[in-house]
Amino acid sequence: MTDITKHDTKHDTKHDTKHDTSDSSTTDEFGLRTLDVEQLRAKRGAKWGAREARFSAWVADMDFPVAPAIVEALQAVLDGNEFGYPNWGGPFASSPAALLFCPRMSERFGWEPNPARVHDMIDVIQGMRSSVHHLSAPGDGVVLHMPSYHPFIDTIDEMERRLVAVVRDGDAFDYDDLERRLADEPATVWILCHPHNPLGHVFERAELERIAEIAERFDLTVISDEIHSDLVMPGHSHIPFESLGADVSARTVTVTSASKAFNLAGLRWAVLHAGSAPMQQALESLPGHYLGAPNVMAVTATVAAWTEGDAWLDAVLGVVDENRHALSELLDRHLPGVVYEPPSATYLAWLDCRALELGEDPAETFRERGVELSPGPQFGPQGRGHARINLATSPDVLAATVEAMAG
Ligand SMILES: Cc1ncc(COP(=O)(O)O)c(C=O)c1O
Repeated sequence: MTDITKHDTKHDTKHDTKHDTSDSSTTDEFGLRTLDVEQLRAKRGAKWGAREARFSAWVADMDFPVAPAIVEALQAVLDGNEFGYPNWGGPFASSPAALLFCPRMSERFGWEPNPARVHDMIDVIQGMRSSVHHLSAPGDGVVLHMPSYHPFIDTIDEMERRLVAVVRDGDAFDYDDLERRLADEPATVWILCHPHNPLGHVFERAELERIAEIAERFDLTVISDEIHSDLVMPGHSHIPFESLGADVSARTVTVTSASKAFNLAGLRWAVLHAGSAPMQQALESLPGHYLGAPNVMAVTATVAAWTEGDAWLDAVLGVVDENRHALSELLDRHLPGVVYEPPSATYLAWLDCRALELGEDPAETFRERGVELSPGPQFGPQGRGHARINLATSPDVLAATVEAMAG
């Protein structure tokens, strides 16, 4: 791996080393506030290992160590040398993680999914793409809030669907405009990113009802990606789209995973709930084993996360909440002119850098300054002049990152 530290001498700051902030250390049970940036730089995964940056705040992985309960559960698999076929009741049986999905949704969000409609998946994008494949055809319109998480845009392009964009009018999405356009350019599916990446927007009940109403009027099936649903900030709550009612559920596919909230993206497990009967039929008609079976480690980690991980998750939400507010002050101090609204959900923050006049892709300038962010234009034309920063790190690393962004 490239030795990133050798580029650092000029930029080492007081934030650039391990800190033990005495105020928070007593409450830092999970080691979320005392990250050592050198240890982060030694990581081999995509976030820190794939880029020659001094600070990596791009892809949606956390810098935090995962919940101890997850490590213990995985360690038990290692200690037992248990890498054979799992004892889950046969090759086509639902995994223990899929069996936990309904109780987890009920307990956390008051939604009662149908256990017969729950399917193991390898990842969320697999569930989303297979839904687009089964529920629409090339040339069909796909509704998407813009800017958008780029794999959705890529899906529409690669699968030769037509983007029907929901755009913002000021701070709110313009559904009147969407309705006018849907009358002229029909669509078959709506990919709903709920909560929204990159805007960190939580769709509250009235907005979800509006979406459901439009979906019904224009006969759209909604593919609701709820991977960020456990990452909702204080003062907001997540309402699963399918929980709006039986009629809504019947035209919805929900895809989610513990991977974002519990930092398990490399383990590969997700779950799909086919409220939509055509999607359920499509999955049931696939040849047995067409989708494969999930990985023991991923399922073990998810079960630990969903049964024993919530104290850790609460601690993570506390740090991200603190960071999203701290970012306002850090930007005022180091990069005045950047327009930023703290996200209501996710650990991702959307920075409007247009006033800095750094061109279409400000992330290029930040990269030259040693900081890797996600380029705004990746999220569609609405992302020009913007960049996305990842807040799932310690307050000190975030402060050092923003300081470095200023050059
Ligand atoms: C909204 C959203 N959906 C899906 C994913 C990717 O999920 P997976 O790795 O399970 O495909 C991400 C990753 O950041 C995401 O933000």
